[in-house]
Amino acid sequence: PAPGIKGGALAGRHVLVTAGPTHEPIDPVRYIANRSSGKQGYAIAGALAALGARVTLVSGPVSLATPAGVHRIDVESAREMAAAVDAALPADVAVMVAAVADWRADTAAGQKIKKDGSGAPPTLALAENPDILAGLAQNARRPRLLIGFAAETEKVVDHAVAKRARKDADWIVANDVSGDVMGGDSNSIHIVTRDGVESWETMPKADVAHRLAARIADEFA
Ligand code: CTP
Ligand code: CA
Repeated sequence: PAPGIKGGALAGRHVLVTAGPTHEPIDPVRYIANRSSGKQGYAIAGALAALGARVTLVSGPVSLATPAGVHRIDVESAREMAAAVDAALPADVAVMVAAVADWRADTAAGQKIKKDGSGAPPTLALAENPDILAGLAQNARRPRLLIGFAAETEKVVDHAVAKRARKDADWIVANDVSGDVMGGDSNSIHIVTRDGVESWETMPKADVAHRLAARIADEFA
């Protein structure tokens, strides 16, 4: 824990974390997905548990060990993630770190799609996935502190400020991914709140996790 934050600062609090990508099936052997290692979300779930929170981690497909003291629920698609988030409520805090696929194949084929020999590729019709964060913001059981993440490649703070307002999240944790952070071990973070912007120096994902957990605990002090 950071200086001044006691080990049990989040004792008695239920925190919901989403992490990893979602996989949207095209057919039984193919899918659409975002790039996401799950490392940052898993580190945050572990850091929150270390502060005494009861943590439910709703995870897309990743190859990571479950952090100590964390209850993990595995899902594949965005719609499964939305259902698992709903089933985990109520929560005092939700930290939506998952890189949810914005679109899914409108209808997943029941059998493997075959090349037909003509050289003409099939056309994929897409449907938009539910926005889990925006849905939670409108939910009657909205967590007291609702936190979204945004990975941006340009105009990081501007996009995050707009995104926070559009989704009605309390905070957006904006991650500057213009460098080489995908799957890497460091993140460059700005916390956009209703009151302004806090910019953190670039630091390892584990440090981001502990500092964010401490910042969340501050809200409940
Ligand atoms: N999110 C979500 N459900 C979705 C898409 C996004 O819950 N269907 C959440 C993410 O987990 C993240 C936040 O919303 O906490 C921002 O995700 P992002 O992809 O940056 O936002 P989008 O509104 O999808 O905007 P963009 O067009 O930049 O992808
Ligand atoms: Ca998106």
